[in-house]
Amino acid sequence: MSSAESSEQIIDVLLVFTEMALLDSVHREVEAHFKRPIEAARFHNLLDAVDHLEKAKKQYGLIVFEHKSTSQTILRAFLEVGGNAAYILCGPDATVLHGIEGSDTPIEFIQIDSVLKELSKTINRLEVTGKMAMMRREESEYILVRPDYLPSMGPLEATVYAQLIDGHYVPVFNKGDLVERQEIEKFLETKKLTHFYFRREDCSKMLGSRQDELERALSKEPIDEKATAKAIELSHGMVRDVVNSMGFTPEAQKVAVTSVSATIKLMGSKPKLSTILVDLKNKEGNYLTAHSLMLGKAACALAFKIGWTSNTTYFKLTLAAFLHDLPLNEDRLAAVFSLDKASESGNFTPDELKDIRLHSNRAADHARSMSEVPSDVEQIVAQHHERPDGTGFPRGLNSKFIPPLSALFIIAQDLIEYSQTFKNKEVDLTSYFDAREAYFNSGVFKKIFHALKHDQKIL
Ligand SMILES: [Fe+2]
Ligand SMILES: [Fe+2]
Repeated sequence: MSSAESSEQIIDVLLVFTEMALLDSVHREVEAHFKRPIEAARFHNLLDAVDHLEKAKKQYGLIVFEHKSTSQTILRAFLEVGGNAAYILCGPDATVLHGIEGSDTPIEFIQIDSVLKELSKTINRLEVTGKMAMMRREESEYILVRPDYLPSMGPLEATVYAQLIDGHYVPVFNKGDLVERQEIEKFLETKKLTHFYFRREDCSKMLGSRQDELERALSKEPIDEKATAKAIELSHGMVRDVVNSMGFTPEAQKVAVTSVSATIKLMGSKPKLSTILVDLKNKEGNYLTAHSLMLGKAACALAFKIGWTSNTTYFKLTLAAFLHDLPLNEDRLAAVFSLDKASESGNFTPDELKDIRLHSNRAADHARSMSEVPSDVEQIVAQHHERPDGTGFPRGLNSKFIPPLSALFIIAQDLIEYSQTFKNKEVDLTSYFDAREAYFNSGVFKKIFHALKHDQKIL
């Protein structure tokens, strides 16, 4: 398989070079080889990379790294944690590989001074000998599934797999099985796993089932609230997994739009804030899903309060909420509201901080890829972590550059963050408006916040 033919496949790349300039050049060279942008995991030393590989749930296809020392100890440790990856060692001397070359690990050597010249040829050699291509085919057959929504599926609609340390996939729950949350948690705990896999081909079928379920829910009069809410939750979880493994496929887009319509129908035309702000922590299932659905409703309730009651506005806000955190791999990353605080906390790796920083734009890309979706949705999603005082991310825009609908969405997210501090008590809205008035006191935020606080309409 040549690199051009395989370009629709995903290959995860990890790079380790001490110097930033060389790291950048190698990254560009890898992209040039695969003929498309590649989000590589990048490190400056092997120990950090080993640390990452030990913790990462990701299987890399290609690892290009610098190793200037003659020590084999760290090298062996590094080759052990990379799973099925193909390696390219860049160093002064190939003798460091003596005794290692014969092992099962595919590894090539490049003299450090000719890395840029030799890289593409060397990658190609790994490809034509099937050392990377095999890995890629196997990777693409399965998609990662978060365990949270499996119990709400009822009888499983497809076989669920787990990945073994050697990279193979084994079925753990069969199609038709009824799995309880406790059973899943126990399994994950004993096997030290965090997630499962579905076969890629089963995912399209399951998205089809989500679509039917949502359409059925929408056609019922009066609406069955419990069944509809469950269908929306399941859809969000599944769309999230599909988007992150297969991209925003047309089927996934359709399910997203239908979920949004169902959410709006469920919410009714007069969404009330006080009934929406239920405690996220008490909710079973997935934090990110609950957070996204609640944010949509909260944003619409705020919109309603100031007289923005059109269906189009509700649709834009609810869709933006559905999409806004989809690219985040872990729920704890979605609970970050300040990049600075996250960075200072030391609880996040450089890669995770980067994922947080980039998720708004990645989610906006998803919005952009949808057909017939108003451009404000993309803008709301891209700006959902900006702040009126310019301290947000990724662009650090201040209130002058943030349009009204984005501003309202930002306030809704702030309100949700605030409401989380109330734990099991009812959220005191008056105290929220008092506490945050001074913060939202510039540009369009000031006008909206004032109207929200005093229940005035902005028309
Ligand atoms: Fe969020
Ligand atoms: Fe976010």
